[in-house]
Amino acid sequence: MAMDETKSASIAADSGFLITTETTAGISLRAINRWVGAGRACKSSWATGTVTGKPRSAWSTRASGFSTTTATTPGTAARPTKSPAGVPGGPRYPGSGSGEENRRTWLNLSRFPGACERAEYNRSMSEDEAVVGQNEIVGTAPPLPPVDLRRLVCHDDALFEIHAGQPVFPEIDAAQCESVFDFGCGCGRIARQFICQTPRPQRYVGIDIHKEMIGWCRNHLTHFAPEFTFEHHDVWNLGLGPENTRQSTSPFPVEDASFSLLVAHSVFTHLYREQAEFYLNETARILKPDGIARTTWFFFDRETFPMLFDFQVTLFVNEIDPTNAVIYDWKWFLDAVRQAGLCVVKTIPPGIRGHQWIVHLAHRGPESVDAFPLDRESMASMCGSGAGLTSEPGEGQAASPAPPPPEDAGVAPSPFIPPPQGSFRLHYSSALPAEEFHRRCAELDFWYHSYYFDNGLEIRGDYNIGADIGSYGFPDSMKGKRVLDIGTGAGWFAHYFEQLGAEVVTVDARGYEDFDVYGRHDYPGIEESRRAPDRHGPAGEPIYYSPVSRGFWAMKEMLGSRVEFRNSRVYDISPAMFGGELFDLVFLGAILCHLRDPVGALMAARSVCRHRVIASTPVVLGEPEGMTEPRQYLPYTKDDRISWWLPNEACFRHWFLAAGFIAVDVSRQAVLRCDVPRLHDGRTANGDQIIRIGTAFVP
Ligand SMILES: C[S@@+](CC[C@H](N)C(=O)[O-])C[C@H]1O[C@@H](n2cnc3c(N)ncnc32)[C@H](O)[C@@H]1O
Repeated sequence: MAMDETKSASIAADSGFLITTETTAGISLRAINRWVGAGRACKSSWATGTVTGKPRSAWSTRASGFSTTTATTPGTAARPTKSPAGVPGGPRYPGSGSGEENRRTWLNLSRFPGACERAEYNRSMSEDEAVVGQNEIVGTAPPLPPVDLRRLVCHDDALFEIHAGQPVFPEIDAAQCESVFDFGCGCGRIARQFICQTPRPQRYVGIDIHKEMIGWCRNHLTHFAPEFTFEHHDVWNLGLGPENTRQSTSPFPVEDASFSLLVAHSVFTHLYREQAEFYLNETARILKPDGIARTTWFFFDRETFPMLFDFQVTLFVNEIDPTNAVIYDWKWFLDAVRQAGLCVVKTIPPGIRGHQWIVHLAHRGPESVDAFPLDRESMASMCGSGAGLTSEPGEGQAASPAPPPPEDAGVAPSPFIPPPQGSFRLHYSSALPAEEFHRRCAELDFWYHSYYFDNGLEIRGDYNIGADIGSYGFPDSMKGKRVLDIGTGAGWFAHYFEQLGAEVVTVDARGYEDFDVYGRHDYPGIEESRRAPDRHGPAGEPIYYSPVSRGFWAMKEMLGSRVEFRNSRVYDISPAMFGGELFDLVFLGAILCHLRDPVGALMAARSVCRHRVIASTPVVLGEPEGMTEPRQYLPYTKDDRISWWLPNEACFRHWFLAAGFIAVDVSRQAVLRCDVPRLHDGRTANGDQIIRIGTAFVP
């Protein structure tokens, strides 16, 4: 583990999660104490941070509490060094000095804990000097950057060591390093190593927002390797690019599909979400078809932070400069990677909980599956994953072993998601013993619905409907009613309705052939796709599973339920399909958003409905009543071509009205509880969603 990783991650891990009760002063105190305790040269100055900016030949200190050695060498070579050992009375902390002092102290905390001298360093050099510098070439090996620059990027000089001829990244093939783009190249730590690697990359481009570091690289490294170029990346950052143009992103200054390896070491760990998304796209743009991006990230599991809203996917540790360390929800990360057209091909989780993960990304193909480990051990190495551990590991210790996996039925649950409390449990009407239940459940790759039963048996799936079934407004009893469940998926609602006493019929698609796929105008039909039927119905009719309806059949058999099933596109539903018999209740759960024509679907539903329709869908909140146009949902992700519309409340109501229903109410909402976030079919069940429930009546 690299020390710079260790260090910035330690802040995250130590102070992490920290958004709640700890004040920022508390955060800093802990971090500072730790580093002062570690006796690192930069710590005391970082903690006190009150070096007065002066011309470079006149460095001095005015704050009490630490000593400063003045360096007067012009140019880049000498900077003040500070002795923590000579700190009388210990360091001073943010908040203890004057307003200006504190402000500057906080700024100095803003990024790497070692960036203690950055502001002074920047001030001490004119821009010209910084970029042009002195073309100082001594010896045959690339020189070591001056300590000031080294400290801006990491604390451990061992990381600057060059192992001539050796691969820079042992886990990466030499051939992969033919052309290297180094995003956030700093003062050339990795460039120097690549210059000495055998074989040396034929092309190397390094970019960084810190102008002076780029100046140093140009002046001191290009001489050794003319094929190595360095560009200043003109993007603003409080700590490292305060003079840069006030823009948060800028395209990589290179052509499409031109690099076999992109390196972004300790970069995404300092980017805001919008920046991270932008640069993932840029990564995809410049990687060759078989290129790899070697990136590093801090991860946490949002499930373990129930106070976060759905849209909150990052944790920060420094309120003055949040880019100090940015910790991402791993599910957001996978989604962002997919949206960028990338795929996780390898991960190296950190040896110590909370530290940086190394993640290799490559272009995504239709068959790509993210190689992201969801096993207990890997999850335990995320920031904040100590929840539930009995003892906190000390510095440098590995995390305590994670608790043993709960007994489960084939699908490994994500380790830190507690089982739902107070969830509605269906009645286990099956005669099958537990082992057989588990065996049959395990035959499915995944379950779209979770099933929790009153005898304690359960199979956990993407969504636990029972967690909030009370919010849908279904009657307490459905005795004697006929209910149609359109788009039944894994059938949880259908079995619930049956257990409430209803006679239930379900409808689901024959697969993608029946889906409204964006960009496709027709329905290929099952004959064209030449799929064999997945099973046959009671009258010998062929039955095909949709991507999620296999669970319906598995559970129907296990429970011995009498729920009927019809394969159909929603628009083809008509009274004739059911012998002219209408339904008291027609339910469309989370299907309207997947349809090109939601009004047409509701009209088909009305054609078989005698009384009430209930439909659920995600909506946009907060738009004015008069806005009745739906928002286009597509393309939701690159893989998702079947999500169409995101209505606002008014629009959702008008869908029912346009379809001929009356007495429309769309005020109810329910939580669609994501039970086990998982990857399947190249997608993730991605966290809880609030959905709106519409109820309407046939005139
Ligand atoms: C998001 S799942 C919802 C499952 C379940 N109703 C629920 O609320 O949990 C959508 C379901 O609609 C089905 N579906 C999607 N498009 C369809 C179409 N055009 N015709 C019929 N069914 C469709 C899918 O196969 C899937 O079972």
